[in-house]
Amino acid sequence: MLARDDEHPPEPGDDPVKRELARELHDQVVQDLTAMLIDLENFKRGPFDIQSTVVQVDSVQGSLRTMLGRLRNMLYGLRGEDAWEPDFAETLRIFAVQYTARTGVRVLIRVSRDWPDPIRRPSAQHLYRIVHESVHNARQHGGAASVRVSLRLCDRFARVSIQDDGRGMPDDQEGLARPGMGMVGMRERAMLLGGTLSADTGPGRGTTIRVVFPASALTAQPEPGLPLQPQGY
Ligand SMILES: Nc1ncnc2c1ncn2[C@@H]1O[C@H](COP(=O)(O)OP(=O)(O)OP(=O)(O)O)[C@@H](O)[C@H]1O
Ligand SMILES: [Mg+2]
Repeated sequence: MLARDDEHPPEPGDDPVKRELARELHDQVVQDLTAMLIDLENFKRGPFDIQSTVVQVDSVQGSLRTMLGRLRNMLYGLRGEDAWEPDFAETLRIFAVQYTARTGVRVLIRVSRDWPDPIRRPSAQHLYRIVHESVHNARQHGGAASVRVSLRLCDRFARVSIQDDGRGMPDDQEGLARPGMGMVGMRERAMLLGGTLSADTGPGRGTTIRVVFPASALTAQPEPGLPLQPQGY
C-alpha cells in the first residue's frame, strides 16, 4: 500500500533544499549571466576599437571569475563546510565601489561600529544577496541614482536597510504581485536569519527594504526563544 505522501508526492517547490538551490542559482548565477548577455548585446552594436574591445573582454573575464568563485562557494556550502566571514563591511564597500564604477549608481555603505566581525558565513551570504538584489532592483526597476545601505545593531537585533531614491514600486503589495524570484528570495533569506523583511515604498517616493533579525544570527546559532520582530520598527 502506498503511504499517503507517496500518493501526493511533494511539489519540487516544497523541498527546502531545492528552494535554497533555486534561490542561490537565481541570485548568484542567473542574474549576472543575464547582465553579461545584455552587456554583450550592447557591445555588438560597436564601435569596435581596440580599447573598448579589451575593456569588454576584461569585464567578461572578471564576471566569469566572480561567478566561478560563487559556484565554488555554493559547492562548499552543499558539502556542509560552514565557516566565518571576516570583514563583511569591507566586502560590501568593495561591492559598492565596483557597482558604482560599472553602472554609475552611487552606493553608500554605513556600518555601525558595534557591528560584529567576523560573522557567520551563511548569515553573511544571506545579507550580501539581500543587499545585492535590492541594489540591483533599485537600478533596474526604480531607475535610482543612489542607494544607501545601512547595517546596525540595536537592542539585540540587527537592522539592515537599503534605501533608494528611485521611482518606487507601483501600488501592488511591495512587488509581490509581479513575477520575479528576487523579492521572494530576499524574504526567505530574512526568514532564514530568524527575522523579517519589509518594503516601504510607493510611486514617486523611492523604496526602502528593511531586514530585522536577532543579532545572535551573526555570531552564534539563533536563539530559539527570541521574538522575531522588535517593537516599533
Ligand atoms: N527598488 C525598486 N524600485 C521599484 N520597483 C521595484 C523595486 N524593487 C522591486 N520592484 C518591483 O517589484 C517587482 C518584483 O521584484 P523582484 O526582484 O521580485 O523581481 P524582478 O526583479 O522583476 O525579477 P528577478 O529578480 O527574478 O530578475 C519588480 O518587477 C518591480 O516591479
Ligand atoms: Mg529583482
